[in-house]
Amino acid sequence: MIILKNERDLEAMRPACAIAGSVLDEVAAWIKPGVTTKEVDSFAASRIKHYGAKSAFLGYRKYPCQICISANDQVVHGLAGARRLEFGDIVSLDIGVVYNGFIGDTARTVAVGGCSVIAQRLMDVTEKSLQEGIAQAVSGNRVVDISRAIQNYVEGNGFSVVREFVGHGVGRSMHEEPQVPNFVDKKDEKKSEKLRPGMTLAIEPMVNTGLPGVKILNDGWTVVTQDGSLSAHFEHTVLITESEPEILTWPARMPSKLKAQ
Ligand code: MF3
Ligand code: CO
Ligand code: CO
Repeated sequence: MIILKNERDLEAMRPACAIAGSVLDEVAAWIKPGVTTKEVDSFAASRIKHYGAKSAFLGYRKYPCQICISANDQVVHGLAGARRLEFGDIVSLDIGVVYNGFIGDTARTVAVGGCSVIAQRLMDVTEKSLQEGIAQAVSGNRVVDISRAIQNYVEGNGFSVVREFVGHGVGRSMHEEPQVPNFVDKKDEKKSEKLRPGMTLAIEPMVNTGLPGVKILNDGWTVVTQDGSLSAHFEHTVLITESEPEILTWPARMPSKLKAQ
């Protein structure tokens, strides 16, 4: 069942998403060579708390950290720990917060200090593919139109999209219907859901420089590329409206009374 959000829901959900976007901005700016992923997680925790929000991830299916930090060949769900980030690493930061009973979910991949040309191109293509997907997130289109736009852009640039993990509806729960894949499955194309005003979707391409295959490490969480190639991940929570899509996790949407001092 797809849960449509009314104006009252959105009044509560907008600040949740804005907080997630702002914390992501702050963590991305704070990251530097030499910090451990545990320190990044703690910094994120302090910023989430600053806004009076809570991590939506901690405890979700026993997830043990505040945010997901996935470096280089790690795709998503990387755990915080003793690993020190090095100059040249690229890291996906995925942040979900609960505020007013609603969840905002957003991710971005950033370079630690600087990175290789190929890593930069991967990040650029992944971010642009998210924008291409969002451009299709309009009433009357189907979910598959988002999927197709992302896949075409990524594959047109010589990279591959991950199949095993997908975007999703988001609201009072982190994972609501519908699923939002980053690829087109011919057999699902016809029954793909129509997009309607009030739907809130987390659109999140995961893109590899090599083959699309992934596996899960023994920690039970960290998803890595099977072939060891680099991976990037960008995500926004987006509202379908009567007209243009509204990117709810854009940090500039932060209500002024919540802005960081
Ligand atoms: N934020 C992830 C997503 O985009 C989900 C994280 S699951 C958790 O769907 F268990 F790591 F929290
Ligand atoms: Co996420
Ligand atoms: Co998500």
